[in-house]
Amino acid sequence: MAKGKKVTVIGTGNFGSTVAFILAMNGACHNVVLRGRNIDVAKGKALDMSQAANAARAHTIVTAAETPADMADSDIVVITAGAPRTPGMNRDDLLLKNAEIVKNYAREIKECAPNAVVIVVSNPLDVMTYVALKETGFPRERVLGMAGILDSARMAHFIYEKLEIGAGQIRATVMGGHGDTMVPLTRFTTVAGIPIDDLITRTELKEIVDKTKNGGGQIVKLLGNGSAYYAPAKSTTVMVDAILKDTKQVHSCAVYLKGEFEANNIVSGVPVMIGAGGVEKIMDDFKLDYCQKERFSNSVKSVQEMVDKLYELNFFDEK
Ligand code: 2OP
Repeated sequence: MAKGKKVTVIGTGNFGSTVAFILAMNGACHNVVLRGRNIDVAKGKALDMSQAANAARAHTIVTAAETPADMADSDIVVITAGAPRTPGMNRDDLLLKNAEIVKNYAREIKECAPNAVVIVVSNPLDVMTYVALKETGFPRERVLGMAGILDSARMAHFIYEKLEIGAGQIRATVMGGHGDTMVPLTRFTTVAGIPIDDLITRTELKEIVDKTKNGGGQIVKLLGNGSAYYAPAKSTTVMVDAILKDTKQVHSCAVYLKGEFEANNIVSGVPVMIGAGGVEKIMDDFKLDYCQKERFSNSVKSVQEMVDKLYELNFFDEK
């Protein structure tokens, strides 16, 4: 029997479980493997989701990984493991703790799923994507970070909240790091095809951009015990779908840059075309205006500072 598509989700917390559940419901793959520290929790959630798939007349079977070897032949591995933010923290505060977690899982993936495309969602996102790239040794096309789709969705939400028109027809584009230094590309942002600049004032747009930058922090503060997971998980499955279905869609994802947008040897969020091979094209055919260039450069610098901190601590075995 032909082998179906297999996706491993590392992390069985709210984020990872929601990613796995969405995949179990949408039929994108035949097998979802849940890998977590507590195997019984992974088994319980896997059973529950598999039974839900049957209720939904879907074909996906969710299983729990007893050992890293159960990740074998995964087409995609999603790394959600790591501590989430709590109120008062910013994503960068998670650097050292989550870097160790991502490094360990990246080494498992290198050994057990050497042909997988890796989607990183652990924070601080851009640095964790860099860690996964370095520790797997995979080509940059097969290591992506999820942030731009989430930040774009948040921006679209705040635009809809303001305008109350075009639900589901709002296309927002965000570049740069996943955090306060993100760079919304307002000239690529439309409501049912109408440029956003024709619909709201610059002041209103700045308010929306500020809300977008704080979108994650706002939810962290309200929840009190962790970060958002529904919108991040859905955004992650948009990437999974695009890879499994080879859609050639363009989304803003964190990827290792080699000169694109004047950024070198660093990870940042840029528009990329996604297909079966992961990142199939980096869309650097458009020009950033002076202000966007400045913001993007600042965003890259803030990621570089955290990467440099890891090198100073001899975190990587070799540069
Ligand atoms: C967020 O922005 C978890 O980083 C993610 O909510």
